Amino acid sequence: MRKQIVAGNWKMHTSLQEGSALATSINKMVKNEVENKETGVVIAPPHTHLSVVNQLINTERICLAAQNCASEAKGAFTGEVSAKMLSTFGVKAVILGHSERRAYYGETNETLMKKVNLVIENNMKPIFCCGEKLEEREAGNYFDVVKEQIENVVFNLSKEDFEKVIIAYEPVWAIGTGKTASSDQAQEMHAYIRKLIVEKFGNDIADNTTILYGGSCKPSNAVELFSKPDVDGGLIGGASLKAEDFIGIINSFN
Ligand code: 13P
Repeated sequence: MRKQIVAGNWKMHTSLQEGSALATSINKMVKNEVENKETGVVIAPPHTHLSVVNQLINTERICLAAQNCASEAKGAFTGEVSAKMLSTFGVKAVILGHSERRAYYGETNETLMKKVNLVIENNMKPIFCCGEKLEEREAGNYFDVVKEQIENVVFNLSKEDFEKVIIAYEPVWAIGTGKTASSDQAQEMHAYIRKLIVEKFGNDIADNTTILYGGSCKPSNAVELFSKPDVDGGLIGGASLKAEDFIGIINSFN
């Protein structure tokens, strides 16, 4: 059966000192306060903090993730950080296709495909984000939008490689807005994504694929969201920057 996961995306927040303190608190609280030891915990600090955070956490219990990687393996790409470099910092997963990167840095299906392949080649897991914008939700074509994002990238993988992918459904209108999707809206989309996976790769793989919800998830709504059968956890932005809130969300599974 698939793993339940709560992942924290710190985005471009925290100084190294603040990030170190946050990682230390999360590490301690995961050890002492997380009841279900099977729940996967992931944190994705900024690139600059990865090496230090890797030393501060129990990497057997907490998975270190990055928020992005370069679309090329190596070379003259000033300012970029390759998947291979990340893997040498102890990074085990990489968030790819976040709507902020699609919107502000022009990430396309083509660049995302290259990134997904590089992440897998370097023995890490892609946390592949998808989700519709407000106007697409209002126009009623949100299923098509998400289908297109998934089909044109992660469905190009082989079955073996697709098994390494974690999907994160993040409706853009819910990110950082305080306006979370209702649990029914989340369930509806997650069930739809799982149906697409069944059609492409079969029941076993679909059953084993973790599909996270992201967008204004906090301790007060996580219990309801995580109670839905196809919501396997969350990708958390703002609330992952407070150790107590992040732990509260991790403890929200029934
Ligand atoms: P918020 O939880 O701040 O809405 O952000 C969600 C997100 O974008 C996680 O990747």
